[in-house]
Amino acid sequence: SPVESLRLLAAKRDFLIGTAVQPGPLQNEVLYREVLGREFNILMPENHTKFWRLHPERDRYDFSEVDAIVQFAQEHDIKVVGHALAWFHAVPRWVVEGNFSRDELMEILHDHIQTVVSHYRGQIYAWDVVNEPVEADGSLRETIWSKTIGPEYIDLALQWTREADPDTLLYINDYAEGLNSKSESFYNLAKELRERGAPLDAVGFQCHLGFLSAKNAEEVAENMKRYAELGLDVMFTEMDVPIDQFSGTKEEQLEAQAKMYRDFLKVCLDASNCKTLMMWGFTDRHTWLKGFTGGKAPLIFDESYRPKPAYSAMLEEL
Ligand code: XIL
Repeated sequence: SPVESLRLLAAKRDFLIGTAVQPGPLQNEVLYREVLGREFNILMPENHTKFWRLHPERDRYDFSEVDAIVQFAQEHDIKVVGHALAWFHAVPRWVVEGNFSRDELMEILHDHIQTVVSHYRGQIYAWDVVNEPVEADGSLRETIWSKTIGPEYIDLALQWTREADPDTLLYINDYAEGLNSKSESFYNLAKELRERGAPLDAVGFQCHLGFLSAKNAEEVAENMKRYAELGLDVMFTEMDVPIDQFSGTKEEQLEAQAKMYRDFLKVCLDASNCKTLMMWGFTDRHTWLKGFTGGKAPLIFDESYRPKPAYSAMLEEL
């Protein structure tokens, strides 16, 4: 085993360093498994705990892919995060097209949460209960859940998750890391949920630090303080940093990327209410941004699993 790795250093300071995981490479690539097991102490299935994957038909659940990921995690002493019980993007066709009444949709969401969360009861460190719940104008995002059930779908989802697994950490998640109108909406939602006594333990900042996001580390640090005052932890949940947003030579771009990873890690380490940083993958070989224009090489290992300057920067910072 290695003398140094992100997870070995993280463990010494009781910190969780993690990544999103895809079942394909986990099954097919030795290096993927090696690096994952060596470097990280927390992981999250990138897509397979989403509603439509786990629950493709009303009377059918499919846990096979996630079970394999959870088994790998347990064999390597890696914590698992579930993402996401309710997300507007992952609503299956049978829900969208079912023309369900409010009561029926409540029963569907309850059944989903109850079944999924109790299937993994005791094995999930944290559940992302509602993903991307807000708009930048202060309103809730319009989804089939908010439109049909009403804004209380979030309180209900949190309660149902707590009932199904009382020991897991519950959070809502959004791209709301900087200081802007979107993060204002997100903060206000978290605050209201706490005031209403909803079982909310933390918030997730996605941290897709690309072309459109707020990337100022000091702003993020500032934003995190007000959550501490509410008694809420903050987790960085989906960090990635494409290099083509930076100018200069390839080397300069990689250095700028490394600095961003270092700065965000430092912000989390320095905050009283942050102990988890997860990236949206770890190798440039497998990143969701590959299919997009803009968004190159956003992760900390290259396509051949060689560590990049961003990896060394995080190692140093830990
Ligand atoms: C993305 C996955 O990475 C893609 O593979 C999939 O096609 C779509 O979803 N914010 C989130 C994640 O919360 O669930 C998204 O993941 C990326 C943006």
